[in-house]
Amino acid sequence: MLLPWLSSWLPRLWLWSTALVLTLGLLQLTRMLARRQKLLRALDSFPGPPSHWLFGHAKEIQEGGGLDKMMLWANTYPSAHSLWFGRFVGFLNIYDPDYAKAVYSRGDPKAWDVYGFFIPWIGNGLLVQDGPKWFQHRKLLTPAFHSEVLKPYVSLFAESTHAMLDKWKEKVRVNKNVEIFNDVGFMALDTLMKCLFGKTSKDQTQSDTDYYLAVADLTLLMQERIFTFQYHNDFLYWITAHGRNFLRACKVAHNHTDKVIRERKAALKGEKLEKTQKKRHLDFLDILLGVKDESKTKLSDMDLRAEVDTFMFEGHDTTTSSISWFLYCMALYPEHQTLCRKEIQEILQGRDTVQWEDLAKMTYLTLCIKESLRLYPAVPQVYRQLSKPVTFPDGRSLPKGGLISLHIYALHRNHTVWMDPEVFDPLRFTPENSSGRHPFAFMPFSAGPRNCIGQQFAMTEMKVVAALCLLHFEFSPDLTQPPIKQLQLILRSKNGIHLNLKKLT
Ligand code: HEM
Ligand SMILES: *[C@@H]1O[C@H](CO)[C@@H](O)[C@H](O)[C@H]1NC(C)=O
Ligand SMILES: *[C@@H]1O[C@H](CO)[C@@H](O)[C@H](O)[C@H]1NC(C)=O
Ligand SMILES: *[C@@H]1O[C@H](CO)[C@@H](O)[C@H](O)[C@H]1NC(C)=O
Repeated sequence: MLLPWLSSWLPRLWLWSTALVLTLGLLQLTRMLARRQKLLRALDSFPGPPSHWLFGHAKEIQEGGGLDKMMLWANTYPSAHSLWFGRFVGFLNIYDPDYAKAVYSRGDPKAWDVYGFFIPWIGNGLLVQDGPKWFQHRKLLTPAFHSEVLKPYVSLFAESTHAMLDKWKEKVRVNKNVEIFNDVGFMALDTLMKCLFGKTSKDQTQSDTDYYLAVADLTLLMQERIFTFQYHNDFLYWITAHGRNFLRACKVAHNHTDKVIRERKAALKGEKLEKTQKKRHLDFLDILLGVKDESKTKLSDMDLRAEVDTFMFEGHDTTTSSISWFLYCMALYPEHQTLCRKEIQEILQGRDTVQWEDLAKMTYLTLCIKESLRLYPAVPQVYRQLSKPVTFPDGRSLPKGGLISLHIYALHRNHTVWMDPEVFDPLRFTPENSSGRHPFAFMPFSAGPRNCIGQQFAMTEMKVVAALCLLHFEFSPDLTQPPIKQLQLILRSKNGIHLNLKKLT
């Protein structure tokens, strides 16, 4: 009975649904073409390197994120050039301090064409949000990075570093050549979990390891997604193998952060809550979980998850990169390594641990850390979308809605600002030598209202870790395996960072 009815309707149904899909597709295409026209007009006065009609500049920058290619372009096009990630997403790529100031002294929102891809992973946390919600969360979380909160972290940084140094002492007995990046990574994650998330165990758990490895996948997959226009559309992305890999890695990451939240909530029940409320300075997760009711912001479970995922990622991957590249610089420039070590030995006077008061005395070490952050900024490229037009000092302008890519890596190697930019010279950062410098010439932590909330935390961690590493080991480069720079949201090395280590007595 039903069959004849169905057989007459099915073809029609098929026809109608095909027509609907085609119409929706056409509408979407029209919308995208209109946006392209708008972006093209906006970028009119900013010529750039020739771009492929479909892929844009994606092919040229696929290799390692195109850091070297970008340097070449920066030296060809004054101040800025257009940069296309496929046919429909066109940025103004900038590397001139005046340009950086014009945009980054304001608080424009993040470019959704890039940061939107973060959502399935770290959610709508502090890094991605904008508007009143961002302002409220930034205000809520800023006290978690007060110097009184940071002070006790020094011994936690030292504890995690000592565990890494013990690992290295075992390793060098067999082979002096050590790949340091991943060891630094596990150390940085361990110390972050102790400081921000109340981890008490000394061991690296399976969950820590799985999370660390998942982040390496996630950052690579997301960087590839940014450059590859075929992956831009959400619907089409989730049906590719690339998209499914991304979701699978997200699950592993969330498994880890869920565990952290669950355990902390359990620990806060009963007596412990009262004890925590009496603490003078609440730590990050206390604040997030709202243990003191006086803060009127109560986060939803989804917001809480997003902030934990955001800080778990931002708080370890960036410092991992910075510390690893710093040690690489020390290996390459033994004269600076020796000067740092002498300074540390004088300050510590035979002690094997670092205290808060020591840190301000580490002046030469700080110069070297800054110089390594200049040459190897952990976050090489950040993106904005203009909420109002901007006019640059040379008279050119970009309308509202324009997309900005600040190339921190190229900015830090701009030869108008930095004499012999490729040379490692920590003395650039002495007060005398930096007083005349443009305030937006050096911005490893970004600048303006949307700068890094963890900057003090990161600098403190880097000094403690660097001091203890230099106290216990001498580092020299492995000339057979030089690192191959790779942009993976964070600056990494494709083949890890191999150094030769010699234990000091
Ligand atoms: C050397 C280490 C670090 C570097 C180089 C670094 C760099 C940066 C940069 C460049 C931004 C701006 C990002 C953008 O505009 O998209 C940023 C933002 C941010 N960083 Fe860091 N960071 C470091 C360490 C940390 C640490 C240790 C934490 C947390 C414990 C952290 C948490 C954040 C957060 C939450 C934001 C977003 C802030 C906002 O938009 O209000 N970072 N960081
Ligand atoms: C560096 O900055 C200057 C302005 O200070 C700018 O004119 C120049 O185009 C930038 N880029 C390079 C590669 O020098
Ligand atoms: C989540 O973690 C638990 C143990 O920590 C593990 O047994 C499980 O396989 C993990 N699930 C995923 C999806 O990684
Ligand atoms: C400034 O930098 C130059 C070149 O790097 C160096 O020779 C000089 O000593 C520095 N001056 C100070 C006061 O640090």
